[in-house]
Amino acid sequence: MVGVDGSMPSREALLWAVSEAAHTGAVVEPMMVWENPYREMWLPHVEPRGDPLALVRQRLDLLVEEVLGPHPDVPIEPLVAEGAPARMLVGAAKGADLLVVGNRGRGGFVGVLLGSVSFHCVSHAPCPVVVVRGEPDGS
Ligand SMILES: Nc1ncnc2c1ncn2[C@@H]1O[C@H](COP(=O)(O)OP(=O)(O)OP(=O)(O)O)[C@@H](O)[C@H]1O
Ligand SMILES: [Mg+2]
Repeated sequence: MVGVDGSMPSREALLWAVSEAAHTGAVVEPMMVWENPYREMWLPHVEPRGDPLALVRQRLDLLVEEVLGPHPDVPIEPLVAEGAPARMLVGAAKGADLLVVGNRGRGGFVGVLLGSVSFHCVSHAPCPVVVVRGEPDGS
């Protein structure tokens, strides 16, 4: 299982996971979690149009092809989900051999070494976790 949010560290995480899976014979499941920004707001009727998860799926597929090319060396099974990214990743890692995340993502504060999602993963995942270092976006 690999957490992919589009950031450079998450791309590095995907590459690392694929090279690892090439040795172990594992299937790589890149997962992109979409957090509905309207969910906690006091205007419940303000909803994005269309099917956000279908857009997330398109985005993920494009990203996977951009990072790995059209014919990756190992089987890839992309996954999308809606919810809190940290919680969804940890939940999806149940039964996985390994959870791979980047040290930082798309958000967060400059200078922090570990984002809140990767921190939650190393603390709570039900399987071993690998945190792959990458240059934070915008650094
Ligand atoms: N929405 C998401 N879907 C899938 N994976 C994610 C998502 N958000 C983060 N990750 C994973 O967690 C890694 C670390 O990102 P994280 O969100 O912890 O850092 P950040 O964005 O810099 O800081 P923060 O989110 O705490 O402000 C990413 O490289 C990616 O592997
Ligand atoms: Mg983040």
